[in-house]
Amino acid sequence: MAPATLDEQLAAIVARIGDIPQADARQLDDLKTGLLGRKAGALTAVLRALPTLPPDERRVVGQRANQIKQQVEAALGAREAELAAGARGAGDDLTMPGRSRWRGAVHPVSRTVDEICEIFRELGFARVVGPEAETEAYNFTKLNIPLDHPAADMHDTFYLAPGVVLRTHTSPVQARVMEGYPPPIRVVVPGLCYRRDPWDPSHAPVFEQIEGLVVDEGVSFVDFKAGIDAFVRRFFSAGTPVRFRPSFFPFTEPSAEVDVRCQICRGSGCSTCKQTGWMEIMGAGMVHPAVFEACGVDPERYTGYAFGMGPGRIAMVRHGIPDIRMLYQNDVRFLAQFVE
Ligand code: PHE
Repeated sequence: MAPATLDEQLAAIVARIGDIPQADARQLDDLKTGLLGRKAGALTAVLRALPTLPPDERRVVGQRANQIKQQVEAALGAREAELAAGARGAGDDLTMPGRSRWRGAVHPVSRTVDEICEIFRELGFARVVGPEAETEAYNFTKLNIPLDHPAADMHDTFYLAPGVVLRTHTSPVQARVMEGYPPPIRVVVPGLCYRRDPWDPSHAPVFEQIEGLVVDEGVSFVDFKAGIDAFVRRFFSAGTPVRFRPSFFPFTEPSAEVDVRCQICRGSGCSTCKQTGWMEIMGAGMVHPAVFEACGVDPERYTGYAFGMGPGRIAMVRHGIPDIRMLYQNDVRFLAQFVE
């Protein structure tokens, strides 16, 4: 068979232009290289052969070849545009911002815990943790709470087994630290605690506490007040008024409850502070000598102070959260409000 003439080759190319409008992306690619490709393109071959023709013929075939090339390019361009539009879906607004995704975030109580521990880190406190399942000895007796004392009742304890409880506060970790490490001690202890309280807007059977303990020679009541004050000034603001109210805990003497100026009404009285203008942030006091003795620390040589606060309650006041149960339901619509 004689090789096809350039005219015949051009006719075959024109026939293939008809395939372009139906081509999918891959077919379009093949057509493009098959027709215009530098090495094996059918049109390229024709154009390359032009110089071998006699001048008259060269002009005629050349013109036709160039027309066909323009048609091929127009058809390819049109189909490419169509496919690109189809892939996006017709009518999409390409300038519209993308959908943002929920990436997850740190829980508001965890954030408060981290922030509090970070402030105490700057004040020289190490962060330690202890077990949530505790013995009665650590949860009560080493802390100067006899098991028949009303304070033990006050805690409404969950028992796991005889003598084994879910800790009702983080104070047992005080005893663990004193038994495990010699003074000077400066620690904060974040963790979950459990009490047999029914769920209501201001009580939960599980809640977060942060314990603090300082033990050294010569730690005085002034050091205690100054330590608490330093924390409050950093966590709230420099001018926040603080007051110490006398209170009772078996493991501290003297004991105090620490209040700060209500962060919602700034002292004028509101429902959050029950019109008092103050909010309680922690229980605290000087470590009772009986606790030192139970934990192997010499009460003649050492003194110290301890405190326990509720970061859940602090987060509620801070964010105006009206019901403690919201902190434990993990409703993403609620949690998403605290993403920065
Ligand atoms: N453990 C006490 C409570 O749960 C708080 C506290 C800790 C008080 C340390 C004094 C010292 O209420």
